Amino acid sequence: MNVVLEKLPPGLFLQKLAPVDLFDTSGLLLLTRGQLITDRIRERLVRSEVYTLISEKDHVNSSGTELKTFSRDLYLDIVGSIWSIYHDTGLITSEQIAQTMVLIELIIEEINGKWMYIDNDSLRVDLASLKEHDYCTFVHAVNVAILSTIIARGLGYRGQRLRYLAMGAILHDIGKIKVPCEILNKPGLLSEKELIIIKRHPIEGEKMLHNTDLSPIILNSVRLHHERWSGDGYPDGLSGSRILLDAQIIAIADVYDALTADRPYRKALPPYHALEVILTMEKDFNPIVVTAFRNSLNLYPKDTLVTLNTGEIGVVVAVPTNFPTRPLVRLVFDCNGQYLDKEIYIDLMNELTYFIKSPSV
Ligand SMILES: [Fe+2]
Repeated sequence: MNVVLEKLPPGLFLQKLAPVDLFDTSGLLLLTRGQLITDRIRERLVRSEVYTLISEKDHVNSSGTELKTFSRDLYLDIVGSIWSIYHDTGLITSEQIAQTMVLIELIIEEINGKWMYIDNDSLRVDLASLKEHDYCTFVHAVNVAILSTIIARGLGYRGQRLRYLAMGAILHDIGKIKVPCEILNKPGLLSEKELIIIKRHPIEGEKMLHNTDLSPIILNSVRLHHERWSGDGYPDGLSGSRILLDAQIIAIADVYDALTADRPYRKALPPYHALEVILTMEKDFNPIVVTAFRNSLNLYPKDTLVTLNTGEIGVVVAVPTNFPTRPLVRLVFDCNGQYLDKEIYIDLMNELTYFIKSPSV
């Protein structure tokens, strides 16, 4: 990929915050995206030639397909709808189920129709864009439904099987409605009694859905989403392939989304860190599901600008299949913000003291 500096029109600097990273004619970084443009800086910017960094294949992946993401408006609509269906509920009615089915169709349609296909039909997602909202049960339900659907597609789920999976995923924590908020949001350690109450939510969820005509597969997904491959999960302590595959998929999506969300007792982990944590939890998850999950995430797609822990800025040129957090990066700016006109590559697979601090754009 060719990275070039593109001149910006002065009108852009009327905004309060820098809309993109801004550079001078020699490639020196003047302001990073999101920094405040004070009146003094604005005056200077308007009088100078100001550039931003673009790639010649911006927003296009290596196969030339336009990069698409889950529609933000649709995502917010679905979160709002799921909240209004379930926020104040006891027994689940068939009307609530029918309304939820409509949302599931919207999620599957969006994923089937809009997201890009690369690398032998695997579907990838940038979940960072889905983490911009405060954590709550309903945001979590929608995130887990989206991620589970993508993982399941990677495992060959289609049609009714995919719908059941997505339905189980969006309803997986419905039993938490029965857990008092003081326990759910408690910042400190839970007492033994509180833990017992929390650990009942998969059974409570299954009970709430008993009077509906939902498939037993969906009810089982809800009941078994805290089971672990090793047998250390709950409520039934099942292990290995005795756990419904749908529940295994939902379990990994659930843990990932929980790790990347702020909790009362800790801050959210960045996505790459959460992925690395999950990769170390080998005994908890089916390796086949872990592989499908890892393939679903595209933390740093090719051509993404990233900031390294050293302060250097580079562009991702290749991503190892098994270690998506350690790509090959071509440096574009040194740690002082100086534009590099010679080609320097950092292979994060070999340079273990380097890591990606954040995507730059
Ligand atoms: Fe749960």
